Amino acid sequence: MDKMNSTRAEIMKMPAPHISQITNEDLFSRSDVDVIKTLGKGGYSEVFLASWKGVPYKLVVKKYHIADVDKTPANRGIKRMHFDAEIKCLNNLEHTHIAKLFTALVTSSGNLGYVIMEHYPGGDLFHFSHRYMLNGDQMAKIFMGVSMALSYIHEKRIFHQDIKPQNILLDGYGRAVLTDFGLASKLKEGQNSVTSWHTTIGHYGPELCLGRRFCPFKLDMYSFGITLWKTVFKLSSTAFDPFTFTHTCTSLVPYFKDALLKLLHPVPCARWDSGQFENHFRSTPRSTQIFIMQPQDPTAHYILLAQKRNPNAVPVPQPLAVVPFYTFRFGYTR
Ligand SMILES: Nc1ncnc2c1ncn2[C@@H]1O[C@H](COP(=O)(O)OP(=O)(O)O)[C@@H](O)[C@H]1O
Ligand SMILES: [Mg+2]
Repeated sequence: MDKMNSTRAEIMKMPAPHISQITNEDLFSRSDVDVIKTLGKGGYSEVFLASWKGVPYKLVVKKYHIADVDKTPANRGIKRMHFDAEIKCLNNLEHTHIAKLFTALVTSSGNLGYVIMEHYPGGDLFHFSHRYMLNGDQMAKIFMGVSMALSYIHEKRIFHQDIKPQNILLDGYGRAVLTDFGLASKLKEGQNSVTSWHTTIGHYGPELCLGRRFCPFKLDMYSFGITLWKTVFKLSSTAFDPFTFTHTCTSLVPYFKDALLKLLHPVPCARWDSGQFENHFRSTPRSTQIFIMQPQDPTAHYILLAQKRNPNAVPVPQPLAVVPFYTFRFGYTR
């Protein structure tokens, strides 16, 4: 078993939630469950908003085709593995900024698996940040929340491996939670590096090109940096070199610029961990502005273009307004 599989095996050892078996071939054929709408569809699952008879609030149902039917041997069992990793992580991680699992179900045929979780009405950060104009303060609070979730999982030697705007959800008060633990793995005690990495294109740390062993926690931080970069600039991280772009940009306020340059640092040991990111955000005076436009800025064209591309963005509405930072740490319990 190579090192990557052994880190995955550590997740598989974690206790799973109680998994109920349902006799229906599909949960949605039951009369007590109604699908309200589809929320998302990824490579491994489909996500629905649903109502359940007797439950006073809406739920999210993530449906996995877990049957071992893939024709390519390399992919066989992979969906089941994603399902297992997701429910084991969500079952064992309890944090204000990590999505909440209610229960897990599988059909008796073993074809389908369901993850039932809390609904985060703000949706994912990708859509949220294109729909609403986030100011610097709101952006800082969202990323601070995600960083706290990363500190928590990294302390447990778990790495997420798929940090991106689509995997960050916002609750009814604009608080961020980290979700989608299908690719998460756990490093064994004594191990400090891995040899392979899975994430979305454009989120890979530059050290992957060197083909050596690398620290998965620093790679999560790089993907976190790309997530912040994409949210700030609304650009594709495959069309630009995000580090050089940030370096060149003179309109970005130092508060964000310094953080981005440290998170996207090409040398992993010079790159910030989540604790350093949080210290920076706590100790640096915040500004509600993200850009103070400079006429000589070589990147100004792209910043203005991104704003024009998004002419219908409106300020974050009150029910979704991001709450003051202190409530993140002390005031919010589930
Ligand atoms: N609990 C939730 N509340 C609101 N939207 C959600 C929730 N879970 C997922 N979504 C939506 O569905 C999308 C896909 O969910 P995700 O868990 O990332 O699945 P996948 O493994 O398919 O990427 C998210 O990007 C988000 O838009
Ligand atoms: Mg996802």
